[in-house]
Amino acid sequence: MKEHLAALVRASLNALHQDFTFPEDIADKIRIDHTKDKAHGDFATNAAMLLAKPLGQKPRDIAELIIKNLPQDERISKIEIAGPGFINFFVNANYSAAQLTEMLADDRLNIAKVKQPQNIVVDYSAPNVAKEMAVHHIRSTVIGDAMVRVLEFLGHNVIRANHIGDWGTQFGMLIAYLEKCENESGSGMELSDFEAFYREAKRFYDEDEAFAQKARSYVVKLQGGDEYCQKMWQKLVTMTMEQNQAIYDRLDVTLSQKDVMGESLYNPMLPEVVDDLIKKGIAVEDQGAIVVFLDDMKNKDGEKFGYIVRKSDGGYLYNTTDIACVKYRVDHFHAQRMVYFTDSRQHAHLEAAWKIARMAGYVPEGVSIEHAPFGMMLGKDGKPFKTRTGGTVKLKDLLDEAEKRVSDMLDARGGEYTPEERKQVVHDVAIGAVKYADLSKNRLTDYIFDWEQMLSFEGNTAPYLQYAYSRIQSIFRKSKLQPGLILINAEQEEDLANKLLAFSEAVNAVAQKGMPHLLCTYLYELSGIFMRFYEACPVLKEGVDEDTCRSRLALCALTAKVLKQGLGLLGINVMEKM
Ligand code: ARG
Repeated sequence: MKEHLAALVRASLNALHQDFTFPEDIADKIRIDHTKDKAHGDFATNAAMLLAKPLGQKPRDIAELIIKNLPQDERISKIEIAGPGFINFFVNANYSAAQLTEMLADDRLNIAKVKQPQNIVVDYSAPNVAKEMAVHHIRSTVIGDAMVRVLEFLGHNVIRANHIGDWGTQFGMLIAYLEKCENESGSGMELSDFEAFYREAKRFYDEDEAFAQKARSYVVKLQGGDEYCQKMWQKLVTMTMEQNQAIYDRLDVTLSQKDVMGESLYNPMLPEVVDDLIKKGIAVEDQGAIVVFLDDMKNKDGEKFGYIVRKSDGGYLYNTTDIACVKYRVDHFHAQRMVYFTDSRQHAHLEAAWKIARMAGYVPEGVSIEHAPFGMMLGKDGKPFKTRTGGTVKLKDLLDEAEKRVSDMLDARGGEYTPEERKQVVHDVAIGAVKYADLSKNRLTDYIFDWEQMLSFEGNTAPYLQYAYSRIQSIFRKSKLQPGLILINAEQEEDLANKLLAFSEAVNAVAQKGMPHLLCTYLYELSGIFMRFYEACPVLKEGVDEDTCRSRLALCALTAKVLKQGLGLLGINVMEKM
């Protein structure tokens, strides 16, 4: 509806353009907002105020002109001028009702696929090999996966890119230690505790000179393509990614092994890229290293920012990889948009890499590269989230604890489940709660991890929304009638109708901004509005006439459908009984 109104206002401005001169770009600045107060209609625009200055007239006079030139439209029942010159639109309830009936019958809830699908690379998750997934990886994984689902739903061609940390000098040490472990335990060892593995490898590296020497020689061999080192390296990658895949599956995250495009993938491209940067005069030699000086970026001492693309010993860095990576994504996937979900500390690094890639002509104009940063996950004490002893919290342990807590909660509440059902409910509620806790906060800020809050059945939580869904399902189990044509009479029906019609707006906002919390907020508000409707407008009570009852059932059904679809886009399941 917002877009539709914007189009109407633009049409009116076009008509006005024949008699008046004003800057073309005003049309882009026009806002259509939901009104806060129903007395002001459903939507309002600031168009008249924007035009007042260039035209040198009073906003209210211009509002009148705009309204006079608006095309007739059956969706609007009334238009008013308010305050300093706002134009308020009242939506025609019959039109809304017809839209909602259509929405209920449509699998896609009337959310159109985009007319021009794009190739969009979403860079997310990206854990490191031979390490436990860290807290920032769960943020990236969960938020990125919601983005992927939304973009695909809208019809885009999405490329999931799991940029795992599978390259670097640490692999010499890791291979040497893997070899040592295999020799001691007989081969075919299984790694379950990467923390300990990494720690021990590092300890030997620091304390045992012969080991360190071997480790260093393995780095060189690995980079030179030595078969044995490659094989050992591959083992480490496979073991890590098998463990991570189990976590993805458990989290209902859509990543699979075919999405793994780690740093090593770009390694063969690096010499070429650096040579190219030198040839194009973008990179220069500085104290033996090859560096790109970025004039308009400063380091923390206020000096010109030098971005090293090759070290003086000839080695390459994480930095260089990200330049090659952009080039690859353009060349190979014809990426038109790339969105990176990594924590905010990587911002300067990524911006610099993309800037260099653009300078080198690797990125066609019009291709957008976006960093979707996020803050840290903090404990209740406001400090980085850690175990009681100060260690990193393993994701697996975190999920185990979530399931344990939900299981205890179910014990306390009672409820009849078959063992199968119970297992599913525990999984869906626990995983849903953990994911939603992360998704529902504006990702730009740090967020506090709080078990009580995320598992509560009240407030903006997954259990609350899942419960709202199950409750609606129980209405249908009790009702003898089927949902029918939607009619809007009561004020609460109108509120619910307007909110339901705004679903597509919420979904599109996520796609545009990479901010799933916008959809969470929408679903939470929808549930609140639904509860008020349900209290004020009886559905199953005696004495409600059949048409009204069937209309209200349809509103219930549609709310449930939107909740299910909305949570689904966030990667969260609903259940019929809870
Ligand atoms: N592996 C990195 C980390 O653990 C994240 C990689 C992000 N993606 C990228 N293209 N640099 O923080």
